[in-house]
Amino acid sequence: MSNVCVDTTQVFKENLFAGKVLLCSGGGSGICRTMTTAMVKHGAHAVIVSRSKDKLEKAAEEMRLETGGQIIAVAGDVRKPEDMENAVKATVEKFGRIDFLINGAAGNFLAPFQGLSYNAFKTVIDIDVLGTFNLTKAASEYLKKTKGSIINVSATLYYTGVPFQLHAGTAKAAIDAMTKHLAIELGPHGVRVNGLSPGPIASTVGMTKLSAAFKRDGVNDYEGVPMGRAGETMDIAQATVFMNSAGASWITGTTLVIDGGSWMTNTPANYPEMVINPPKLARL
Ligand code: HXC
Repeated sequence: MSNVCVDTTQVFKENLFAGKVLLCSGGGSGICRTMTTAMVKHGAHAVIVSRSKDKLEKAAEEMRLETGGQIIAVAGDVRKPEDMENAVKATVEKFGRIDFLINGAAGNFLAPFQGLSYNAFKTVIDIDVLGTFNLTKAASEYLKKTKGSIINVSATLYYTGVPFQLHAGTAKAAIDAMTKHLAIELGPHGVRVNGLSPGPIASTVGMTKLSAAFKRDGVNDYEGVPMGRAGETMDIAQATVFMNSAGASWITGTTLVIDGGSWMTNTPANYPEMVINPPKLARL
């Protein structure tokens, strides 16, 4: 049974973001795709950025068909500052402005920390932390002009220290710190900076990779979640539309957890057994 609201237009006005422009890293897949689609359904134009040009172009085409809106794809690696500067340039050339930035690109996999190579740890830190910094720095002058809003996509992993997630939890902790520092420095320019922290969302790449750490066997096994259901990408889209709306105009520097209460039960009851005898973890 799901009581998720299926479309943000059931809750928020359809023309809420008419004439405004969103730039979203990771916007071609998973949670960020639904976040972007929702913003476009409310009138925004969007630019989505990620590494794989072909996948991104295909996603943009599907999203255009779904929304009837303007969405363009710009290939780029968030770890490369010059790629992010290029994405910002392409956005402004096409649409003339940037009102909203979503830092959504992330990398993750399950691995005990002793099994992480130095490069594996660095890779996730680079994608999540450097990536958020790079795109924010590149877009910030344009966001000041529009008194825009930034959303950093976080995770609750480090609140309880979920096993096999040291790399990702550390990265998300740094992102939450960045949210506060950016909010302080950009607030006087009229730019709000917040985080959204999704819990386990059914059917995403992230959850497919991580379900063993949560000892939740597939998308229907969510008895441990206080709200009794899996998260859906639409849950995060609802919060995105609110956070970018004038209704949130006095909210900055905070990270909103959207997880049905699940972070409080994140660490599996049998976790000592899990870390002493780690399960065989498939590389997905
Ligand atoms: C251990 C691994 C590994 C694994 C890769 N590595 N996968 N180590 N276990 N499963 C190591 C590699 O051996 C290598 O180290 C280093 O990490 C870099 O790997 P590459 O494949 O060269 O990196 P790259 O091509 O840049 O890919 C990055 C990636 C990949 C993170 C490894 O999975 C990716 O691009 N993911 C993007 C999509 C994604 O993961 N989305 C999920 C986000 S979920 P060596 O030493 O061999 O060179 C999320 C939500 C969390 O963030 C919250 C949920 C509740």
